[in-house]
Amino acid sequence: MAKSVLLICFLGVSFIFGAAADQSPLQDFCVAQAGGAVLVNGLACKDPRTVQANDFSLSGLHLPANTSNAVGSKVTPVFVAQLPGLNTLGISMARIDYAPWGINPPHTHPRATEILVVLEGTLEVGFVTSNPDNRLVSKVLQKGDVFVFPQGLVHFQRNSGSMNAVAIAALSSQSPGVITVANAAFGSTPDIAMDILVKAFQVDENIVSQIQSKF
Ligand SMILES: *[C@@H]1O[C@H](CO)[C@@H](O)[C@H](O)[C@H]1NC(C)=O
Repeated sequence: MAKSVLLICFLGVSFIFGAAADQSPLQDFCVAQAGGAVLVNGLACKDPRTVQANDFSLSGLHLPANTSNAVGSKVTPVFVAQLPGLNTLGISMARIDYAPWGINPPHTHPRATEILVVLEGTLEVGFVTSNPDNRLVSKVLQKGDVFVFPQGLVHFQRNSGSMNAVAIAALSSQSPGVITVANAAFGSTPDIAMDILVKAFQVDENIVSQIQSKF
């Protein structure tokens, strides 16, 4: 009796974890059909007979991206939108370039855990645990160091060196999604109502307006 209760609990927990990632593929592949009219959870598949090696390939990830922007970093995504062969496979990646002291600002991936390796430079990375603790877990990484950001948690990176830095990240979704905290709160279309932002951030209206003007 106790054993079967344990088994049921185990199956329940397994199901919860299983359902937390993209669904498993039910065929070898499902290369995304460009401009397909059929809406599915993912993208409709190309006719497998027309699939080519290039559907599974993308070039140029060795090239540094332009980091001349307000935050001093640039993400080059390799998600299903860029690499149609990722459709249904539950995985993707990105290259991230950082100018000296550049940051990848606090953001979350609603659908993916992220694992990152530093290829060049020194990165300070961190994530914040959920309420009520909101504990900052952070570390300085050197070339070759790996760090994992658990799914859904707010995280960031900063180049804490005077040289350019480069990282490669892998993500557990073909389409991890990105929610940048500042842009979502202060740069939505249309704006979140002023009184909501005033109370949420405990500042007065002109400070909210000033931040909104940057997004
Ligand atoms: C990088 O981006 C900035 C801002 O958009 C632009 O002014 C500059 O010309 C770009 N540099 C290169 C090398 O493309």
